[in-house]
Amino acid sequence: MSEFKRYTVTSALPYANGPVHIGHLAGVYVPADIYARFLRLTHQDVVFIGGSDEHGVPITLKAKKEGVSPQDIVDRYHTIIKKSFKDFGISFDIYSRTSNKVHHDTASEFFTTLYEKGEFVEKTSLQFYDEAENQFLADRYIMGTCPKCGAEDAYGDQCEKCGSSLSAEELINPRSVISGNQPVLKETKHWFLPLDKYEDELKQWILEEHKEWKPNVYGQCKSWLDSGLFPRAVTRDLDWGVPVPLKEAKDKVLYVWFDAPIGYISATKELTPEWEKYWKDKDSKLVHFIGKDNIVFHCIIFPSMLKHEGSYILPDNVPSNEFLNLEGDKISTSRNWAVWLHEYLEDFPGKQDVLRYVLCANAPETKDNDFTWKDFQAKNNNELVAIMGNFVNRALVLTHKYFDGIVPTPQEDTDYEKEIRTEIQNIKTNLENNIKHYKFREALKNAMSITRLGNKYLADTEPWKLIKTDENRVKTILYYSIQLCALSAILAEPFLPYTSEKLIKILNIDKPDWDDANKFDIIESGHKINSAELLFERIEDEAIAAQVEKLNKTKEMNQAENNAVTPQKEIITYDDFVKQDIRIATILEAEKVAKADKLLKLVIDTGIDKRTIVSGIAKYFKPEDIIGKQVCVLVNLAPRTLRGIESQGMVLMAEDKDGSLKFISPESICANGSAIS
Ligand code: 2FM
Ligand code: ZN
Repeated sequence: MSEFKRYTVTSALPYANGPVHIGHLAGVYVPADIYARFLRLTHQDVVFIGGSDEHGVPITLKAKKEGVSPQDIVDRYHTIIKKSFKDFGISFDIYSRTSNKVHHDTASEFFTTLYEKGEFVEKTSLQFYDEAENQFLADRYIMGTCPKCGAEDAYGDQCEKCGSSLSAEELINPRSVISGNQPVLKETKHWFLPLDKYEDELKQWILEEHKEWKPNVYGQCKSWLDSGLFPRAVTRDLDWGVPVPLKEAKDKVLYVWFDAPIGYISATKELTPEWEKYWKDKDSKLVHFIGKDNIVFHCIIFPSMLKHEGSYILPDNVPSNEFLNLEGDKISTSRNWAVWLHEYLEDFPGKQDVLRYVLCANAPETKDNDFTWKDFQAKNNNELVAIMGNFVNRALVLTHKYFDGIVPTPQEDTDYEKEIRTEIQNIKTNLENNIKHYKFREALKNAMSITRLGNKYLADTEPWKLIKTDENRVKTILYYSIQLCALSAILAEPFLPYTSEKLIKILNIDKPDWDDANKFDIIESGHKINSAELLFERIEDEAIAAQVEKLNKTKEMNQAENNAVTPQKEIITYDDFVKQDIRIATILEAEKVAKADKLLKLVIDTGIDKRTIVSGIAKYFKPEDIIGKQVCVLVNLAPRTLRGIESQGMVLMAEDKDGSLKFISPESICANGSAIS
């Protein structure tokens, strides 16, 4: 098939902090499984690797919240995730996990090799530290007010309200998630992968030598490389993960994104003593299936690690998909906006292939795509039932009706049969090419076109009419139809493994070889087939309505949560209150802050002075509309610098239920500087 002797196919290791949903399946596991199944069917040597990513801060946070250990959390979800993948026929050769010993040893050795080669840069920096708990705080362990939108529950790496990426130092009034105390800054040492040093070689390798990568992947890499790379810390102050194998790094672990991709290697080690050939032999083709949020890690960071470790091959391709949305909204675990795989199977038992089909037909290969239950129903009823199911059923039923289920002996081919032979050759070649180029949607269309062709064949030749006048012709037509069923069973296997197996059973044959899937003697004349069974059943409106209803309930619950009034804060004394100096002031000037879509720079007359305040209100107000407006300003807030501008105070805003901001203004004009008490 190619210049490669073997294939190492990996699929992103999902975090073991929740079950998996349709977005996971569509983005990563269905395409990876199609690819791996295809390679096996075409007699390639392949290992298909999966596993759970069991480190990282979200897991420790969840454990803390539930009062259990991180190991309890990952044990729970590893089991659920592994079962979902098995249920959906994701044919991993191994599904491992990163909390096991092989992985800890492998990741540790990998770090040591890079360390001994002098690859890392060591840096000491100031990081937030919780003195009450005696621990450094990872970004997710720090919350505070978002400098961009003012939300009070922004994390040290991101504000979930406005979606901005943040760094912990930017948060206003940072607090420790563990103790609630204000953290202090303390020195800590970390080891960094000097990506800046690797920039030129990465540019050459990706931008020059891998122009064939999917445009979404290539484009994202190019934009990272164009904006310049920086050293990346590969260690963290945390007690959950792979310990850093250095004496001076007690209480530190490897950054989860350093150890997770090494998980592919550890899993291969666990699978076979011959693991090295899959990772170190130039004849092996390494392909990473991932979602778009993982591109930088798999195209830039992990390859840099592999290259500088020295003994590994680099990925040949990283066919990343974009995201799948659900009924027009981003899939979200925290908002429960998802179709969970285990729940799907409770509602649609035995219908794994229907979901695999819909997710592949609609895969977000080049852009984000939407899953809707209506489309799910339509694809089942109008494609699986009406095309594949219908053709197979008619071919089987007619063979039983006219020839007692015995495959008849064909008579002379007409031009129609010759055309079918040519057509099947083309379909198979196109399907193979499409899979090799990671175009799974197109490949699925190719697979479906076999039974589409079969339906047309029956409709054009009408054997049910001919049987009265030309039984010999009917023998040929049904012989061909049964061969088409067998061809469809083989060529659809990568996509619809359960259906393929069922069809092979109905046809009462051994699994045919892929290489024969362009021939028309797969089933011999005289062979007895089993009785017809429907491959797919219609999905009725009620079943779809129930799913839509379930999502509507989720939406209502989320809205109710959003609308809930924030609970009252803890009681303070009058003395606490009067520490705040709040004054009436007038906005004199307003302008947008460059490269910050949320910020306005205001010049304000506070009655005391004229000063600059940077305010996160740009989303709700145009600068020209607010000049001259009277507002309330907290004037004795310690100055802080936002985007290089010193902000001297804070304009007070009310946040409405929908998250929009409103000024607090005096009921009628008031002298600037009037105190509020
Ligand atoms: O994004 C995620 O879900 C990560 N757990 C993927 C890790 S992929 C690999 F590096 F292991
Ligand atoms: Zn925000």
